[in-house]
Amino acid sequence: MPQRFSERVLAWWRRHGRKDLPWQREPTPYRVWVSEIMLQQTQVGTVVGYFDRFMARFPDLEALATAPVDEVLGLWSGLGYYARARNLHRAAQEAHVLHGGLPADLEALAALPGIGRSTAGAILALGHGRPASILDGNVKRVLARHAGIDGWPGETAVLHRLWALAEERTPEHEAGPYAQAMMDLGATLCTRANPCCGDCPVAADCVAQREGRQRELPAPKPR
Ligand code: ADE
Repeated sequence: MPQRFSERVLAWWRRHGRKDLPWQREPTPYRVWVSEIMLQQTQVGTVVGYFDRFMARFPDLEALATAPVDEVLGLWSGLGYYARARNLHRAAQEAHVLHGGLPADLEALAALPGIGRSTAGAILALGHGRPASILDGNVKRVLARHAGIDGWPGETAVLHRLWALAEERTPEHEAGPYAQAMMDLGATLCTRANPCCGDCPVAADCVAQREGRQRELPAPKPR
């Protein structure tokens, strides 16, 4: 019987994971939130500079909430997907007015513009150290392969199975490092086209690896 899934993933991350990104150095909920929104459609290497400039101008939620939207868009210029910046600004205003800051519970966070269940989980786990789960594209791929979950993750039933698995495997302690570890695993080893199963800490009981189905999982959108 191998060690618990989360223990193996955490042990791998302690040796190989990223721990020096700007939003990891001072992981407040606000900084985690802004970084997660920037990272949604943009590579880590590009985000770093934008993140530092954004934080220099908007160091906290109130600074962002009270800034003119044009200034927010100006600092976003070049990152693309400008709806992200508009939602970020609107969410800051809503949170500032309704909660006096970023709320610290899943439902209130997920009710803000641009914050889905996974981003809310990331804010709680990475920013508060609370045992919350994330399920972004990278994590979906890791879990679908490891558990051999068939079907397109855009389907409700498949998504529900993946969320159940994500929550079941989230450790009570170290949920923050575990969330970061799962994202790093998906980004560096369990990649879409070139999974490096030889280096993977959970390959021993991975269904996709055993059945040679890494490239078939997760299943693409049916057409
Ligand atoms: N992609 C989304 N969130 C991330 C994070 N916290 N670190 C690295 N890549 C990410």
